[in-house]
Amino acid sequence: MSAEIDWLGQGRVMRITALRDDILRVQVGRDGALPADESWAVPHARRAARAALQASPAGLRTAALRASIDADSGALRIEALDGREVLADAAPPTWDRDGFRLSKCLSKQTHIFGLGDKIGALDRRGRSVVLWNTDAYKFQESTDPLYKAIPFFLGFTQGHAYGLFLDNSHQSRFEFGVLHPDRLSFGANGGSIDYYVLAGPTPKDVISAYHWLTGPAPLPPLWSFGYQQSRYSYMSADAVRTVATTMREQNIPCDVLWFDIDVLDRNRPFTIDPDRFPDFPALTSILRTQGFKPVIITDLHVPRLPDQGYAPYDNGAAGDHFVRDRTGAPYVGDVWPGPCCFPDFTRQATRDWWGTLFRNPIFDQIAGIWNDMNEPSVFWTDSRTMPLDVQHRIDEPGFAPRTASHAEIHNLFGMQNARATYDGLLANRPGRRPFVMSRASFAGGQRTALTWTGDNSATWNHLRQSTPMLLSLGLSGFAFAGCDLGGFAGSPSPDLLTRWLQLGMFNPVSRNHSDKGTRAQEPWVDGEPHTTLRRRAIEERYRLLPYIYSLAEESARLGLPMMRPLFMEFPDATGGVPLDLEADSQFMFGPALLVAPAPYPDTLDDYQVMLPPGDWYDYWTGEALLNLPFAKLAGGSGNETNLRHDPATMPRAITVRPDLARLPVYARGGSIIPRQPLVQHTGQTPQGALELAVYPGPVCRGSLYLDDGESFAYRDGEFLRQEFTCKTRPDGTLALGIGEREGRTKPWWDRFTIIVHGRGPVRRIDIADSAQAQVIIV
Ligand code: GLC
Repeated sequence: MSAEIDWLGQGRVMRITALRDDILRVQVGRDGALPADESWAVPHARRAARAALQASPAGLRTAALRASIDADSGALRIEALDGREVLADAAPPTWDRDGFRLSKCLSKQTHIFGLGDKIGALDRRGRSVVLWNTDAYKFQESTDPLYKAIPFFLGFTQGHAYGLFLDNSHQSRFEFGVLHPDRLSFGANGGSIDYYVLAGPTPKDVISAYHWLTGPAPLPPLWSFGYQQSRYSYMSADAVRTVATTMREQNIPCDVLWFDIDVLDRNRPFTIDPDRFPDFPALTSILRTQGFKPVIITDLHVPRLPDQGYAPYDNGAAGDHFVRDRTGAPYVGDVWPGPCCFPDFTRQATRDWWGTLFRNPIFDQIAGIWNDMNEPSVFWTDSRTMPLDVQHRIDEPGFAPRTASHAEIHNLFGMQNARATYDGLLANRPGRRPFVMSRASFAGGQRTALTWTGDNSATWNHLRQSTPMLLSLGLSGFAFAGCDLGGFAGSPSPDLLTRWLQLGMFNPVSRNHSDKGTRAQEPWVDGEPHTTLRRRAIEERYRLLPYIYSLAEESARLGLPMMRPLFMEFPDATGGVPLDLEADSQFMFGPALLVAPAPYPDTLDDYQVMLPPGDWYDYWTGEALLNLPFAKLAGGSGNETNLRHDPATMPRAITVRPDLARLPVYARGGSIIPRQPLVQHTGQTPQGALELAVYPGPVCRGSLYLDDGESFAYRDGEFLRQEFTCKTRPDGTLALGIGEREGRTKPWWDRFTIIVHGRGPVRRIDIADSAQAQVIIV
């Protein structure tokens, strides 16, 4: 049995390889030669995987799909074994100088998602987007491209989905039904045709296949799920101390304080300003004792300061670690510190050298590193980056050693910068999970960094856009992402900041950050009632940490995002639970919580929240929502008429009146949500019982994951995992099952408080956490 087939014709050669039953790789070359088997995104072990298949000249068949190739034209058609078309060529590939374009059929009912941190409607159908990492300060709804290039999309047609990943780092462009309503097309300005088709059939299958292909995002430390406070910049040690003390005095839970570039001596990475931060080790130690984790910015550019005692430059130059311009001299471009050189991150030796720079004692008390400006951003240029003919050297397992132009490496640069940081931190502190936040990235970049959406603005529209942007990042491998809460550029009104902090507590990463010259943005700056409302929102996140951290662990293991579009959890619901622009604001935070901010958050109008089929509860009151009317679907998929009013598939609607005191959140019937007593930071041990909030439904479950929060010992059994179930018995009583504990970690609680919703008045039951496996609730 072979795992691949080749087709030759019309001057082309095409190879189709089955890596798994549901994943095909397609490589196409001109002049009879297949492209080299190189990839930054897909590790070699994955590319080497093979599924059993039956092959003939006309096509191949795995246990899940069939691919047929037209003998004359080479047109490829992939279908599931039940006959459902997954993806079919609409036209043969075309080449143009160095670039190429491919064209596939796009059915009327198919919606398109993914492609990283794009702004605008979550559904990319009817749009054309460019992937080219760009420093996009104050980006707006029409701005494209942005900071990251993730050439992966998911096509969803009610009930089923497929994925396509173009493994090509050059500038690429994707368009979906723009030139022809029934076609999508994509191509790059250089490099080879090398793409993967992920056959699904469900959206979750596609996302976990992409995760399998490009590699998992490692579980971040527990503290990174706490509240994080940042600013460009806290200008002195005193300013930082004041923020830290006020946070504790005001009882606003917080885990992380960020140091932006003004902590540095003249913006030079790996230094500290001696005047404004005279005793940095003492400052960071105090923060540590107050329960804060300091994160410091370390941009990738290295200021060109020969013979001035600036070791990163001197050693970098001596070690030949900088990228070169077309004359062979180190390329120099201006960034924050002035003229800078740029490490050649595609070389192992350069990444190793970069990693050693974090051995500087500055970093002794530092918990995480922030790699910014790594598109790379270069000031005073039209392109905002380095010239395309800058030379990078590739020294990477699986690649023939060679030089490559910036045109090829640009989109990879941020990812390789973050990789060098991650590997360096890991080498310097083995056993501690590195925390690296990177602004630019490429497919697979989730293996070493978290990300955020860059320089958004303090406007209501940006609050609204934060949800589809983070949903899209979650679908593109970045389960762990955030946006600048409150908005980076400009100053938010008190209401806007309150609303943004409320919503941000249901983002994977919750960091408040703001630009120079804007007004202060810490939670207390607007007085009452805002401080109380913001505190309440942050406290709720801390109470939910057992749920949030369990969700994070599931994301790291299975690749499912923490923030999920509704169609991912309810693929069979009518209209995919609607896919119109207004519904983009709603999302699932894990499997159990539906978060529903106003679609136009600056208006005072009532709005309709769509509740997918099933039982729902108001999260804040615990009240069961019964007898709701069916939702009115605006612009559904066109498929919904025959399903209309089928309670099994039709969403229901609840009308909500905006209220500053409350972000609408709903719990899904059939969930058990673990919660904990309030702490002020994750270093504190919660005092009291672990709460299990039970929202009964036909099948009912919940799970809990816990570990030490910062080491890798969980990989050797130092964790605690527990499953919970509940069932309504024929006599109307409820049986709650407490599963056996897995792993060696001891719980911090010795009893459970079980809170049962939706069966008349809320029931609270306290039980000891003994071997008890079943609790009957009458
Ligand atoms: C960039 C970053 C921003 C940061 C600033 C200064 O604009 O996106 O978050 O505060 O640089 O470092």
